[in-house]
Amino acid sequence: MQTTEFPDIKEGLEYKYYCGGKWEKSISGKTISIRNPYNDDLVGKIQACSKEEVDKVIRTAQENIDCWIETPLNERIEVLRKSAKIIRQWSEPLGQLLMKEIGKPIKSAISEIVRTAEIFEGTADFAATLGGETIMGDAFEGFTREKISLTYRVPLGVVLCIGPFNYPFNLTGSKIAPALVAGNAVVMKPPTQGALTPLHYGKILEEAGVPPGVFNIITGRGSEIGDYLVGHPSIAMISFTGSSETGKKLAKTAGMKPLLLELGGKDAAIVLDDADLELTVNAIVSGAFSFSGQRCTAVKRVLPMPAIADELVNKVLEKTIQLSVGAPEENNTIGPLISSKQCDYVQGLIDDAIEKGALLKCGNKREGNIMWPTILDNVTTDMRIAWEEPFGPVLPIIRISSAEEAIKISNKSEYGLQGMIFTENLDLAFNIAQELDVGTVQINGKSSRGPDHFPFLGTKSSGLGTQGIKYSIEAMSRPKVVVMNLSERGKLVRECKSDL
Ligand code: NAP
Ligand code: G3H
Repeated sequence: MQTTEFPDIKEGLEYKYYCGGKWEKSISGKTISIRNPYNDDLVGKIQACSKEEVDKVIRTAQENIDCWIETPLNERIEVLRKSAKIIRQWSEPLGQLLMKEIGKPIKSAISEIVRTAEIFEGTADFAATLGGETIMGDAFEGFTREKISLTYRVPLGVVLCIGPFNYPFNLTGSKIAPALVAGNAVVMKPPTQGALTPLHYGKILEEAGVPPGVFNIITGRGSEIGDYLVGHPSIAMISFTGSSETGKKLAKTAGMKPLLLELGGKDAAIVLDDADLELTVNAIVSGAFSFSGQRCTAVKRVLPMPAIADELVNKVLEKTIQLSVGAPEENNTIGPLISSKQCDYVQGLIDDAIEKGALLKCGNKREGNIMWPTILDNVTTDMRIAWEEPFGPVLPIIRISSAEEAIKISNKSEYGLQGMIFTENLDLAFNIAQELDVGTVQINGKSSRGPDHFPFLGTKSSGLGTQGIKYSIEAMSRPKVVVMNLSERGKLVRECKSDL
């Protein structure tokens, strides 16, 4: 495939929405300004689409689904492979744009784009192995082998993909790829802050060969068009990543539509006395503070046992105060939070903890939207920071006296995304892992989503359903069963010879 030049899809600074293969301005006449959270520069404007336009994009997707269902799987796979190549070719400018609109450090922003190309490739690889199942009836009494079920997977219809601000390109792409390869039409609603980079999927998929109308993008505030989109009768399935609050609301509005929800977390790192200190400290600091803690899987609580607690806290502190703070362009670990409102929320959690007796080890400093990494020791369970998700660079240490207490505090959370256990005692780790009410337990490693073919899920307020290449394709398709009822006429009769 030839190198394609990065396209300019905007007019001045104005981006349009994408429907039926065309870029359009909203009839509302309104746009939403997207400002750089680091320096408040205007990065672009997106269309504030109306409910009529929601109807239009969904109708367009529905009207064009048949041609896509009829497209052979090998051609849909090829489209994903071409998309991956284009995403790789454009990773640098897409990463630059992503950095500007959400303040992600430049290296991580480019990695987010490249990781998405890998998801498209992985999805194409897995889709090539998709098969069905044949079951004979005779396992059940009263049925014979003449009744045979043939099961294969079919698409659901129009899939609505909604992503969050912190991985706006990747967590829309990880929904679009499985939805398309499974044969669905797609309506994507990017997060408002973070819409500009994923708007480029219009061009990427067009160049890769997706027919007009099969993939569409609607923009606008979730608070204005979200409920209407989600409740729309022509949406067959919703794949959503975002906060637990929005996810729960969405589930009520969606009714009986199948849902894949990846929501918030409060991942706890349980550190036992025999943990490898260096490994644990590295995992905790990078887990808690990369992208300034704005990851669902960030380390959001540390629960150390008494004999290791002091040394652990000192070493975590030593490493944390060395983290670079500043401009995303300079690739600093700590950069701006997404909004000043979010900074106020995080500050409220810090203030509450300090008022209630937490020991401030570092941080509690703010300039613009940048909050310095903050460590709070001696956090107790009456403090908000013990339970709420900060989505900012704050790490609470809740000292524990037994593994049982750690399990109790971990499980008392409303969230159940991931958990971590740091120890050399793998038998004990495995036993604790079995007690933790979370989607995934990491032993001697920080919580994280990848690699992207692993199942990724949360319990309780952390989600519904399972993401991950194979699991997402399954969630975006359903089994279709054809039962053959063969006649006994052609049956070959074999005699049982008892005198052998
Ligand atoms: P958010 O505020 O819930 O927004 C997520 C998406 O939902 C955005 O596209 C938003 O659009 C849209 N939305 C808002 N109201 C809606 C409605 N009524 N109906 C339909 N959609 C609506 O979350 P966020 O602040 O972007 O992301 C941070 C949260 O996501 C954190 O809690 C984090 O833990 C969670 N998260 C979870 C995972 C995971 O995999 N478990 C991954 C990443 C993030 P607008 O932007 O227009 O409001
Ligand atoms: O923010 C939530 C993402 O799913 C986390 O992904 O663990 O790869 O950073 P990550």
